[in-house]
Amino acid sequence: MTFSPELEAKFEKMIANYPPGRQKGALIPMLLFAQDEIGSVTPELVQEVASRLKVKPVEVEEVLGFYTMFTREPRGKHHIQICTNISCMLTGGEELFAHASKKLGIGHRQKTADGQFSLEEVECLGACSWAPALLVNYDFHFNLTPEKLDRLIDSLRKMQ
Ligand code: FES
Repeated sequence: MTFSPELEAKFEKMIANYPPGRQKGALIPMLLFAQDEIGSVTPELVQEVASRLKVKPVEVEEVLGFYTMFTREPRGKHHIQICTNISCMLTGGEELFAHASKKLGIGHRQKTADGQFSLEEVECLGACSWAPALLVNYDFHFNLTPEKLDRLIDSLRKMQ
């Protein structure tokens, strides 16, 4: 399996940062960067990362089973993660998720037919002081209301 020259260079540098026998430490960032490039974690990617880090594929699977930021299915171009944990729940996070679900016509871990949006209800994003909060890909949005969310989704639609 080959990646872009930029990602290959990033992997090389990343692996070199770990001493021999400890390169397994690069597992999570490698999976994240590869997922960003190819859109999801495929069986082929699991084998490739395991081979490069000299770990068993089952060790890669263990990481994938624990962390929710990995996906086996390609997500939408704009992946919206809405927190409904305690601070966000108390400030309208659940209503925000329901609003997004209705506006986009998709539920938890679903993708719109045009592939533009996917939606996920998530645990704390570490932005409790600015609840309710969400992430679009790697961008945080805070102190949200349904109206602000509408404007955000509409602006993302225009980016197509
Ligand atoms: S509870 Fe939502 S960001 Fe912490």
